[in-house]
Amino acid sequence: MKSILITGGAGFIGSHVVRLFVNLYSDYHIYNLDLLTYAGNLENLKDIESFPNYTFLKGDITDAAFIDAIFKKYQFDAVIHLAAESHVDRSIMDPAAFVKTNVLGTLNLLNASRSIWSNFENKRFYHISTDEVYGTLGEEGYFTENTNYDPRSPYSASKASSDHLVRSFYHTYQLPVLISNCSNNYGPYQFPEKLIPLIIHNIKHNKPLPVYGKGENIRDWLWVGDHVNAIDIIFHRGIIGETYNIGGSNEWKNIDLVEKLCDITDAALQRKAGSSRNLIHFVKDRAGHDLRYAIDSAKLQNTLGWKASMNFEEGLKQTVAWYLNHETWLSHIMDGSYTAYYDSQYSKRG
Ligand code: NAD
Ligand code: TYD
Repeated sequence: MKSILITGGAGFIGSHVVRLFVNLYSDYHIYNLDLLTYAGNLENLKDIESFPNYTFLKGDITDAAFIDAIFKKYQFDAVIHLAAESHVDRSIMDPAAFVKTNVLGTLNLLNASRSIWSNFENKRFYHISTDEVYGTLGEEGYFTENTNYDPRSPYSASKASSDHLVRSFYHTYQLPVLISNCSNNYGPYQFPEKLIPLIIHNIKHNKPLPVYGKGENIRDWLWVGDHVNAIDIIFHRGIIGETYNIGGSNEWKNIDLVEKLCDITDAALQRKAGSSRNLIHFVKDRAGHDLRYAIDSAKLQNTLGWKASMNFEEGLKQTVAWYLNHETWLSHIMDGSYTAYYDSQYSKRG
């Protein structure tokens, strides 16, 4: 049986990765290491928490001694590293937290892999990163794997730094690494501070819909399930030392996306068509707001055969329906009680 460490598995993307791996690979034991920060929610994994090939470990990737101890105890064969501080607006308020978790935390995992793996045969250290490391695009062009790094927010700078550290461990110590850089994800279980779930939540509660600046910034949106399929493919078939870009070829101006969400949510709530558009409020722009992200994922498609499968209209409808039908999940986030789920379900088990 293979022992796989997934970090950040209680977060948005991580919980989808954990669920897929626990369900698909009964010959793997999945260890989900997560600190359960504000963004970590074990309610995301209720459906698989009692599976025999799943173990949750509460802990901090910035604690080197703890990381070394779990590597020794559980003898991981591979790492899929998603734990991070992930929200650009928070990084503008508190850059140090991002450097600590995203840079130092990644270094601790690299150091433990390098020192505790006696040889690197059949080992893999897979680092999950973002397209934001490439900076911002003008109206034309796409990010490829060869685009120069040019991070412009504390979040993207910390992720760029972690990518560089991962690559340095490959070149310096031959640690078997893989990196992927993905565009904006959407779907169930995303924390409602990110654009899409925030807008759905506010529409439902008739609250203002904050659109930064003029709403002209562009993001390339990808269904989280398509990202997770790419992670599965890259983990199993990616070439060691390589980087893969993952994107949806699905660019939307923020204002157009927010209007679309208004229309889909109005229809789902049987409200008058277009009524929620009145809630749109243009607010002060984000500092250093990157204009446009767009990914060229030809390498992943041509060499490993990945393809995004979710149609955007359908993905948005499913996402809206999910948030409207998961009132308890959302209310636990809003009142903070989701953080008590670990104590009620896990700490008493010892
Ligand atoms: P998220 O914020 O939803 O989840 C992050 C998880 O990491 C949480 O469960 C949190 O508790 C955990 N964590 C934070 N600090 C920790 C620490 N010190 N020790 C252990 N666990 C800790 O993030 P997400 O949106 O799921 O993103 C996951 C990864 O994917 C990140 O590395 C992010 O940079 C990357 N990514 C995200 C997107 C996106 O659109 N969300 C796109 C591309 C790449
Ligand atoms: P976000 O979901 O924070 O992802 P990222 O900044 O990593 O791309 O934001 C997506 C886009 O939406 C980005 O251009 C900022 C914008 N935005 C708003 O206009 N209003 C909001 O309330 C938020 C959270 C984001």
